[in-house]
Amino acid sequence: MTAPAPLQQLPAALLGWYDENRRDLPWRRQVSPYRTWVSEIMLQQTRVAAAEPYFLRFMAAFPTVDALAAADTEQVLRLWQGLGYYSRARNLQKAAREIMDRHGGVFPDTYEAIAALPGIGDYTAGAILSIAFQKPYPAVDGNVLRILSRLTAWEGNVLDGAARAKMRSWLSEVLPPHRPGDMNQALMDLGAAVCLSHGRPLCESCPAASFCAAHAQGREQDFPVRVKKTTRKTETLTAFLLLRNGEIALRQRPDRGLLASLWEVPHTAGELDEQQAAEWLLQNDLIPHRWVKKIHWKHLFTHIAWQITGYIVEIQGDGDSHWLWCSPEERAAHPVPSAFSPLIKEIDNGTALL
Ligand code: ADE
Repeated sequence: MTAPAPLQQLPAALLGWYDENRRDLPWRRQVSPYRTWVSEIMLQQTRVAAAEPYFLRFMAAFPTVDALAAADTEQVLRLWQGLGYYSRARNLQKAAREIMDRHGGVFPDTYEAIAALPGIGDYTAGAILSIAFQKPYPAVDGNVLRILSRLTAWEGNVLDGAARAKMRSWLSEVLPPHRPGDMNQALMDLGAAVCLSHGRPLCESCPAASFCAAHAQGREQDFPVRVKKTTRKTETLTAFLLLRNGEIALRQRPDRGLLASLWEVPHTAGELDEQQAAEWLLQNDLIPHRWVKKIHWKHLFTHIAWQITGYIVEIQGDGDSHWLWCSPEERAAHPVPSAFSPLIKEIDNGTALL
């Protein structure tokens, strides 16, 4: 996969901007794997300004991995008080002890070993590897998804797990090998100060504005695309393609609600077996003459899924007047929604001979 053109231009523009605009933060003044790790864990659920004093106190109390490993857990938790999400603090100490036991007290420098430590996910592993070890690993969080999807006017859904994988792979391709940590931190700073998530982004201050696809289209706020998975309610129903003298039975839906005013084949709630289906037809003054076929399909609306059993049935006589009996020529004037297409297709394919 090749990263889109705007991403190829990003590193040079962004690193120049970072050199001028980088935030002066305690974990940047002096860098070590331990300091980067602790800061990234604090920043997982806490804003930069709130994390700064905690970081300084934590480093003063536990300046090294072995100090943290040897500490009294109560003291670690006390220093975390006010930050919330205390499992972060417990995992920090657990991981410090693992580093002492399994890695001889030396912070590991491979993705596999770092990501295997308690409390470290893909983002944090990428941040530590790039910032503290200068290894070209991406660190993709919500900020990066927003920036990259705007830059490339990417219409994909960022809430889809595949989006993160795609952005990771694009970013991996363009991370400058000499400054991967600066590039990742430049993205963090750009997301915090310029390419804002709420309100209008500050494109006039953005080093990437001249090659940003969303900006060129004036559509900055259309990205990132977030499509929530909806939980659909499933309804089962039984539908009939009723054949009589070369015509099929249709009826018009109510003029409000789902598929308002469209035409549809007769149907009823629930999944009916053949005997129940025959009873329903008789209650509706329809006498089944020949059962031609039974099919099943599913149709998805935004909030509802229809699980449909369809019967193709030849009907005897011409007694009833509940339905519009429609010839093939008349059907064009009576649009039937695609929810019923599998039944209608049976006539069009000639499978259900009229
Ligand atoms: N957010 C997460 N990690 C960060 C870092 N290293 N610098 C600034 N903001 C961040």
